[in-house]
Amino acid sequence: MQKMIIEGGRKLSGTVTVSGSKNAALPILAASMLTSGWSTFANIPKLRDIRTICTLLGVMGAEVERSGDVVRVRTDSLCSVEAPYELVKTMRASVLALGPLMARLGQARISLPGGCAIGARPIDQHLKGLEQMGASICLSGGYVDAKAEVLRGAEIRLERPTVTGTENLMMAATGARGTTVIENAACEPEVAELADVLVKMGAAIDGAGTETVKIEGGRTLRATDHTIVPDRIEAGTLIAAAAITGGEVFVRSARLDHLKAVAEVLGQAGVEIEASPGGILVRRAGVLNPLEVSTLPYPGFPTDMQAQIMALMTQAEGRSLIKETIFENRFMHVGELRRLGANIDINGPCATIMGPSRLEGAPVMATDLRASASLVLAALVASGKTEVSRIYHLDRGYENLEEKLSALGARIWRVEA
Ligand code: EPZ
Repeated sequence: MQKMIIEGGRKLSGTVTVSGSKNAALPILAASMLTSGWSTFANIPKLRDIRTICTLLGVMGAEVERSGDVVRVRTDSLCSVEAPYELVKTMRASVLALGPLMARLGQARISLPGGCAIGARPIDQHLKGLEQMGASICLSGGYVDAKAEVLRGAEIRLERPTVTGTENLMMAATGARGTTVIENAACEPEVAELADVLVKMGAAIDGAGTETVKIEGGRTLRATDHTIVPDRIEAGTLIAAAAITGGEVFVRSARLDHLKAVAEVLGQAGVEIEASPGGILVRRAGVLNPLEVSTLPYPGFPTDMQAQIMALMTQAEGRSLIKETIFENRFMHVGELRRLGANIDINGPCATIMGPSRLEGAPVMATDLRASASLVLAALVASGKTEVSRIYHLDRGYENLEEKLSALGARIWRVEA
């Protein structure tokens, strides 16, 4: 087990480059199962979750080669339709194997992901959509067994927008006879990017990135090449790091069009954010204003930035309110932020943050991916030394975060616990 050590109190300045998007790469790598031939994906971040899905592809019989930020995949000889519990329990996004396997082979055996720190996170919408397409779904022994002689296009209305649910059903629909329409679809940029890749493979998809996605199934797909977009949540996290330390940072490759809600909220807080060719310039010189923010499905304020904005609000002048509307238990970072001296009250889905707090370094524990980022951000502005344990959570979604922050002037390093 490793720990991150941070000595706070330094303003960040300089240039940092965002890595490729984890949440775009995961469904796109899964989509390689839809066809034979070598697919080549560039700008793939070096993350635990990426290693996990590459392991899953290998377990299913795919050939996976990695060189630098490029991953090549060939699934000519898929020999298993099972996503085993050992892998799914470490990464619930393994459920993204469901759609491609149903489209390619008409069957899949996926371990139920189970809950995770931030909530129950069921996959009922994924399964209901597949049933509407003609699949028979059987739950037993902690596994989903899905089978379909033929997948047929269907009119699917999701009861709530689900990112991986939309992605799974889009991939399944490419192998269905006829047209599928997904209503109340998730609009995240990662859904639109997956559709871009599927269209490059030969699929016919309209409306991806909006609430209504139409897929004309039954077309022959072929392998393709693609370069993954920059990670909007990593970019948002780096922007928050510049803001919390009162520095000035150029976040290279960050795309402001994927961060509109975050930029708007940070602008209200008094953070200057400026799009320029090739990235985003961030500076914060004055006081931070308190905020009232609710997390929402895209294009609303992303739940994956909730913990990070909460850390920032510990430094705002006054009372801030954050409402988490997507997950039922995504305040695990609050207890740890309090250990650093933050003044935060929780009432159901709402957190009230009184600032500014003079944070003091202390040992804290990461509980989930974005909570760990929140603790690093708070530690950057805490006096003295903070030790963040269980940083394997951080390594799921941030590539070389300590190198990136060190290059901006932070005092941060990794040690064996
Ligand atoms: C994706 O998870 C992201 N992961 C998450 O990012 C992100 O927090 C989440 O979308 C919301 O934006 C990937 O893309 C790999 P959902 P996903 O299905 O698809 C409920 C990170 O930090 N729901 O959109 O699993 C669910 O419980 C991770 O990178 C159902 O009820 O999220 C949740 O409350 C964390 N039934 C809400 O919908 C279903 O069938 C949104 O979940 C599916 C979901």
